[in-house]
Amino acid sequence: MGSTSEDIKWDVLRNAAKAAMKNAYVPYSSFPVGAAALVDDGRIISGCNVENASYGLTLCAECSLVSQLHATGGGKLIAFTCVDGNGEVLMPCGRCRQLLYEHSTEGMVLETVSGFKTIDEVLPDAFGPRQLDAYTAQSKDKS
Ligand code: THU
Repeated sequence: MGSTSEDIKWDVLRNAAKAAMKNAYVPYSSFPVGAAALVDDGRIISGCNVENASYGLTLCAECSLVSQLHATGGGKLIAFTCVDGNGEVLMPCGRCRQLLYEHSTEGMVLETVSGFKTIDEVLPDAFGPRQLDAYTAQSKDKS
């Protein structure tokens, strides 16, 4: 199911992430992040981190990306990449892996510091909408 890493134009995605990274608002950490993803209808979306004087309220680049996903019509993510201020590939933090999982197609591919990986590889045994659906289907079978 899903795309393989060979099907994806990773240079296009990485460039979108780098362009988004340039717009990061990072007065507190000085650590800009840009994220980009391919959506199942072919569009490319992106996001940057937006910090806050109340540090814990910082929005990761992935948060902006997910907002853009829905603000521009929704859909599911097929491929994802994330870069730091040097344009180097960055791993999404744990919270953001869960955020991405929610909006992923099955088998969504991520560019990571250790090669291309699926969402299930970077968030093994995840809890999310597919688990809720499976539970609902099981409950119906029993009744
Ligand atoms: N950051 C992201 O935007 N995404 C991640 O997955 C890792 C961390 C941001 C949050 C904060 O603005 C800065 O990087 C330093 O932690």
